[in-house]
Amino acid sequence: MSRDELKGLIRTVPDFPSAGIQFRDITTLLAHAEGLAASIDMLAQRAEGLDATKVAGIEARGFIFGTALALRLGVGFVPVRKAGKLPVECIGEDYALEYAEARVELDPSIIEAGDRVLVVDDLLATGGTALAAVRLLRRAGAQVSHALFVIDLPELGGADALSEQGVETLSLVEFA
Ligand code: PRP
Ligand code: ADE
Repeated sequence: MSRDELKGLIRTVPDFPSAGIQFRDITTLLAHAEGLAASIDMLAQRAEGLDATKVAGIEARGFIFGTALALRLGVGFVPVRKAGKLPVECIGEDYALEYAEARVELDPSIIEAGDRVLVVDDLLATGGTALAAVRLLRRAGAQVSHALFVIDLPELGGADALSEQGVETLSLVEFA
């Protein structure tokens, strides 16, 4: 499957969750067997050579792609959770979204000395969510040099924001 075909499986919903937002919805991609498999194949290709020891996925949509990629790479999965979900003492970071404010949390005891963690999410917009995840993982002692996304919205500047913090981004498709 080509990248354009993959892009064609992503549904755009205008004015969700608020007026003016073009919501790029992966529901239609996930339901398409070939599209789902191709998206994981393409993420795995981009992860080649990065030598990650763990994959971190951001709740909720990042869990889907992150877990599948971790299985493919043969490494463990680290859930970066939305606030209030973890049953143990955790560390947290607040961030601003394109359309809301939120907080992510991590159990730092999951990170081992020398871990090189690859961050995965479905979509990169402003980069606020991914940066919060990177800050958390680094506070826990992980090395984070790359983040992988299915979708990039380049006009929102997420790749630049991550690059300023020493994180290179790779994505499968872009929506201008
Ligand atoms: C979406 C998306 C990314 C984030 C990208 O998640 O899955 O995590 O927004 O935006 P940013 O680059 O501006 O931070 P959302 O918070 O809507 O949560 P969900 O995965 O639970 O639907
Ligand atoms: N998360 C942040 N911006 C988004 C968008 N435009 N579509 C889907 N998820 C998003």
